[in-house]
Amino acid sequence: MKVGLKVWRFNSRTGERELQEYEVSASEEATLLDCLDIVKDQHDGTLAYRKSCRMMICGSCGMRMDGAAVLACKTRMYEVAQAGHVPVISAMGNLPIVKDLVVDMDPFWEKFRSVDPYLQPGYDEPPDGKEHLIRQERMNAIHKEALCINCGACVSECNAMESDPLFTGPQALAKAMRFVGDPRDGQKIARLEKLNGEHGIWECTRCYFCNERCPKGVDPRDAIAKLGAESMKEGIDRDMGAKHAKWFVTSAKTTGWLRETELVPKTQGIVSAIKQTRFALDLALKGKVPPPFPPHVAKDVKESRRLYDLVRDQGLNGFAGIVQGEHALAMLAHGAGVGDETLDEIYERPGAYHRPYIANEDIPAGSEGGMGSLTQADTTPGEQPTRKPEGGA
Ligand code: SF4
Ligand code: SF4
Ligand code: FES
Repeated sequence: MKVGLKVWRFNSRTGERELQEYEVSASEEATLLDCLDIVKDQHDGTLAYRKSCRMMICGSCGMRMDGAAVLACKTRMYEVAQAGHVPVISAMGNLPIVKDLVVDMDPFWEKFRSVDPYLQPGYDEPPDGKEHLIRQERMNAIHKEALCINCGACVSECNAMESDPLFTGPQALAKAMRFVGDPRDGQKIARLEKLNGEHGIWECTRCYFCNERCPKGVDPRDAIAKLGAESMKEGIDRDMGAKHAKWFVTSAKTTGWLRETELVPKTQGIVSAIKQTRFALDLALKGKVPPPFPPHVAKDVKESRRLYDLVRDQGLNGFAGIVQGEHALAMLAHGAGVGDETLDEIYERPGAYHRPYIANEDIPAGSEGGMGSLTQADTTPGEQPTRKPEGGA
């Protein structure tokens, strides 16, 4: 097939920038990386890009196609070529370009190092000197975060990093969650304190682009939400972002709605709220905020309160609740139904997935688990399970 590419060339020494067009003959299975290899081999040896494994595991070949970060070796070109589309290929965003599609990863690694991306043991060593074993189900809670291959696609698309280049960023924060959620780590509170500081978790704008572009299903935004929830569970809630989130919960619990007019005083304090009175009045006059009194109480507010009580009684505040939510979504994605069947009955169906890990629940002895096991499907919503109920790869 013929594949057309428009590539942004850049020379950081001269500052020259040029959009160059290429057309290559490639096999129907070709990926973007294969096409770039053909360009380099047969058309223009000066084109610069990074690659190594060619199988979506080393994280080297991050770049943008039509303005969105991709792994070049994961991006098949067949449909693009069939549609007659000529995509624009450029370097990743939020990182300085060295040449063409090669970015300087130093700022990325600096942030990675800033979260101490290694285990700082806090458990008692087993007396027999043997390995410290953790149930696979417990580790499944941080399985998604452990999938990161440090490609930088999430960082490339991060809105918060565009406005504050010092923001710790989605990749480093996902890595931080991998250790905050590890039962063997002894520095959880110190880690959370640091992550609640300047340029930390509360700077995220929740645009979800990192989730959308991550090629490995890490869902960094979800990891940041888990860090926020765990911080509040541990009483680390001094940041305005934390206060904001707490008010969401209180508001939903008491009236079933988000009472926006009370958001500023509850989050920023009375003085700040008074300073913004004029702005609030303008909003009210334009019909942008509902009148605060009487507060509108949702008809089914009891449902909202019941949900709050359920989460509290099950001890699922903190990141455990979000992990359980992910598992529930994965169950739905993999065909678990709702109706007359109980959850246990659903899990007893022939070929059904094993019941996923539910925080604080006793795990039956001998339950299966582990990387590549059936439970993996439960921890990676949106990704293909490694094994299907019918068997096969
Ligand atoms: S959700 Fe947050 S971390 Fe993710 S890309 Fe948006 S601003 Fe960045
Ligand atoms: S979180 Fe995803 S997009 Fe970000 S560096 Fe890791 S693998 Fe790449
Ligand atoms: S070349 Fe390794 S991830 Fe693409």
